Amino acid sequence: MLFRREKKLGIIGCGAIGTEIACAVDNGDINVILEACCDTDKSKYHLLVSKLKKTKPALLDMEKLIKKCDLVVECAQKAAVTDIFKLAIKYNRDIVFLSAGGVLENMDLVEQARSKLINVYVPSGAVVGIDGLDAAKYRGLKQVTLITRKPPKAFKGVKYLEDKGINPDEIVTETVIFDGTAREAVIGFPANINVAATLSIAGIGPDATRVKIIADPFVSTNKHELIVEGDFGRFRAITENFPSPNNPKTSYLTSLSAIVLIKKIVEPLHIGT
Ligand SMILES: NC(=O)c1ccc[n+]([C@@H]2O[C@H](COP(=O)([O-])OP(=O)(O)OC[C@H]3O[C@@H](n4cnc5c(N)ncnc54)[C@H](O)[C@@H]3O)[C@@H](O)[C@H]2O)c1
Repeated sequence: MLFRREKKLGIIGCGAIGTEIACAVDNGDINVILEACCDTDKSKYHLLVSKLKKTKPALLDMEKLIKKCDLVVECAQKAAVTDIFKLAIKYNRDIVFLSAGGVLENMDLVEQARSKLINVYVPSGAVVGIDGLDAAKYRGLKQVTLITRKPPKAFKGVKYLEDKGINPDEIVTETVIFDGTAREAVIGFPANINVAATLSIAGIGPDATRVKIIADPFVSTNKHELIVEGDFGRFRAITENFPSPNNPKTSYLTSLSAIVLIKKIVEPLHIGT
């Protein structure tokens, strides 16, 4: 039986989130051994390692990493989730997925993992309120709505808007650019995919979860308002995200959330739902 602090951690994806997790291990903030990292772009691995002071994880390919580590963190991209998930099931490894949209597309693999007693974790990421949603789901959860508000420039190049003839540069007042289900939102707005997917998995599923997206020229942060109604009552949780110092497209809270989730997995004190 392993002692908790001896768990070997493997990181797939050496970008903003992977690097922030690796630095947290290197600083001694997470009691695991950073055994290996993997990235399709080797220069990203070398950049990550250059930021570490005490640790030198090995560079392994995806399968070797999963075979060697007790706990694997995916912080790569949605398209990588299926392969990683299948390998984690093959080698019986616990896994943390940051690309929540990929998990939503692989709910059949969640069932396979369950039957093999593999733990699959999806951190709260860029949105707060998952603890309340989780508790509300136990009895009488009725409605989950996400209202996302971002500056118009955040929607540049979004095909859904191009198809509708909407040019984000021309939006000068607060404008609702999408109102529909989470399933439709993750298809139309890939950059919004993880928050909508995480809420769908945690709550009432992608077809019942409502999503409204607003382009607002008067905001500078990415703002998520989560409204949950059920037998417990009602709550509204608002997150105003600053970008990660390492990737302007990723909210900094996502890395912090992943780091704390891994800490929870390996430490005995668990606070919150
Ligand atoms: N859950 C959330 O709320 C949330 C929030 C933000 C980002 N994310 C997701 O987390 C993931 C990582 O985000 P990031 O900001 O660190 O991205 P990033 O672009 O900074 O880093 C991703 C890294 O993964 C590598 N990579 C891509 N495909 C790979 C593969 N198949 N195998 C190995 N490496 C691969 C890339 O080369 C890159 O170095 C993304 O999928 C992103 O959408 C989730």
